[in-house]
Amino acid sequence: MAAFGWHEMYPDATHDEQSRQNFVRTMRSHVLGPVLGGTGTVYNARVKPAFEKAHQRKPESTSEVFRAMEGDAFTSMFGSLVRTTQEMLYDTVGPSIARQLPDLVGKARRFRDSNRKLGSLQLDSTVRVPRYNAAADIHCKPGGYHSEIVADDVLAGAEYDRSINVFFMGTLGRYNDDMGRSVAQWLRSTYPDFRPRKVLDLGCTIGHSTLPYVDTFPGAEVHAIDVAAPCLRYGHARAEALGKAIHFSQQDAEHTRFDDASFDLVVSHLLLHETSNKALRTIFRECHRILRPGGLMVHLDGRSFDDDPFDGYFMEWLAHYNNEPFLGTLMGLDLPAIMGECGFAARNAFAQRIPSAEKPSRGTLMKKEAGTWFIAGARK
Ligand SMILES: C[S@@+](CC[C@H](N)C(=O)[O-])C[C@H]1O[C@@H](n2cnc3c(N)ncnc32)[C@H](O)[C@@H]1O
Repeated sequence: MAAFGWHEMYPDATHDEQSRQNFVRTMRSHVLGPVLGGTGTVYNARVKPAFEKAHQRKPESTSEVFRAMEGDAFTSMFGSLVRTTQEMLYDTVGPSIARQLPDLVGKARRFRDSNRKLGSLQLDSTVRVPRYNAAADIHCKPGGYHSEIVADDVLAGAEYDRSINVFFMGTLGRYNDDMGRSVAQWLRSTYPDFRPRKVLDLGCTIGHSTLPYVDTFPGAEVHAIDVAAPCLRYGHARAEALGKAIHFSQQDAEHTRFDDASFDLVVSHLLLHETSNKALRTIFRECHRILRPGGLMVHLDGRSFDDDPFDGYFMEWLAHYNNEPFLGTLMGLDLPAIMGECGFAARNAFAQRIPSAEKPSRGTLMKKEAGTWFIAGARK
């Protein structure tokens, strides 16, 4: 039987490899379900009362909550479990991909060199991986998205395809495309007359979220860029294997090679939290430059609710201990106001939650956010 989300590029797994990946996935469901839920119990029962006693006031910010939680034994146990399962994720998937790398490289080359291609692949070795991506192994992925160990390497991309399934515990759907599907469906219902002719996905990795735009906007020319060549090679081959026409190119979202006013829709999914305060603004300005008047920019990212300082606790934890340094800062930013400083009219900017097309069951990941995604964007 074909694996969940199978396509011709999809790396296989032996019985033992699959069983180890299933274990990590189940372990993550437990750690990010009941154990993560326990941090809320501990905060309300012990940490918050102790903080209030010591300071004669409630904690006012997520970083205050984070610092107060640091001293608690449950937090140490929780942190150690999350970090360990994250490392186990790559320890489990990585060797399985490395074992079949020559075969995967060969398949990707065949898609690249086929004269029946639907889309295209353009690599540019002069594109530099920004420091905010290269300085640390983002979410503990060894070598990050960009490192290469063989000619025409696809390892980081193939590893991403299998590990994302374990990381999100299957909640992104059969083809891990829930983020793209959710934004595309929201666009269709919010702007029923909007028919983009050219679409661009920034920081596409292997194009999981890019593919739904091909189906939602038939006839549109869909482009996807990233700085990481191994992900683009794999992403291009994967899109071809799934019969989708996407034009992948190696470009920096801060400074693309696209012409002024050349796109109707520019999107990103989980890109912003992996950039920096400065890059975020440069990317918004670049989106404004390449959008046509009336065009839309939409960025989806992993932001939690912020009704209470505790809401962002896990995001702050991830920023400190999961090598996602900008995640905590992104939480506190007024993105529509920043878009207003980057060329867009602030009145045309928005930040809101939208429903997930896949609707993950409540209880997985963070309870309050389950079933929704955070987006921010603007109309030019
Ligand atoms: C979390 S991944 C995005 C996931 C992907 N969009 C999806 O929906 O599956 C972040 C990606 O952004 C890319 N990236 C980071 N900074 C970038 C930049 N300045 N320009 C282009 N890509 C960038 C990284 O290489 C990485 O592939």
